[in-house]
Amino acid sequence: MLAQAVSPTIALAAMTIEPRTSSGAGARALAARLRQPVVLVGMMGVGKSSLGRRLAATLALPFADADNEIEAAAQMSVSEIFERFGEPSFRDGERRVIARLLEGAPRVIATGGGAFVQPDTRAMILERGIAVWLDTDIATLVDRVTRRDTRPLLRGGDPAEIVARLKAERESAYALAPIKVMSENGPHGDTVRRIIEGLEQWL
Ligand code: S3P
Repeated sequence: MLAQAVSPTIALAAMTIEPRTSSGAGARALAARLRQPVVLVGMMGVGKSSLGRRLAATLALPFADADNEIEAAAQMSVSEIFERFGEPSFRDGERRVIARLLEGAPRVIATGGGAFVQPDTRAMILERGIAVWLDTDIATLVDRVTRRDTRPLLRGGDPAEIVARLKAERESAYALAPIKVMSENGPHGDTVRRIIEGLEQWL
């Protein structure tokens, strides 16, 4: 919806928020009011998949990880898709998979870090979903992404340099999400609570 795309971002810094709806009936009541999927966007390593799984469980909604869905559809890993067909082909598949995930009953969707940067994919997410930008500092991202070697964009260079560059390049796109939540080190439950708080304010 246009109003959603132009509305100011609700920035929720790491602050103590009383868990009004983070569990039980309150969270389910919030889920019942959702008419659109909740779409987590932001840099690789920010925790979109694990937070998304936890958010979905709290809201008693289904969860989908776009990268996993792309891998299932292509029958190969994200790295293999990049290697064999190149990034444009991956982005094309990503857009089609996210289009499918945005259909139907509300759910929580974790997207790959580049998805929301692609104009077509972003427009679709802003129109059909509620985008939540998860953000954290570069040091935390680097620490998390260097634990696994599964990200093709980090190969062939210094991961810290690449993460810093991508974050700087992508931030203006991520900022178009109507809700922003800081995902700092600390219990996932705290970040999930802040996402729920952001959704409550947005709805
Ligand atoms: C990418 C992030 C990855 C994956 C692909 C490209 C990116 O997802 O989609 O390697 O462009 O930032 P995660 O954000 O889950 O690592």
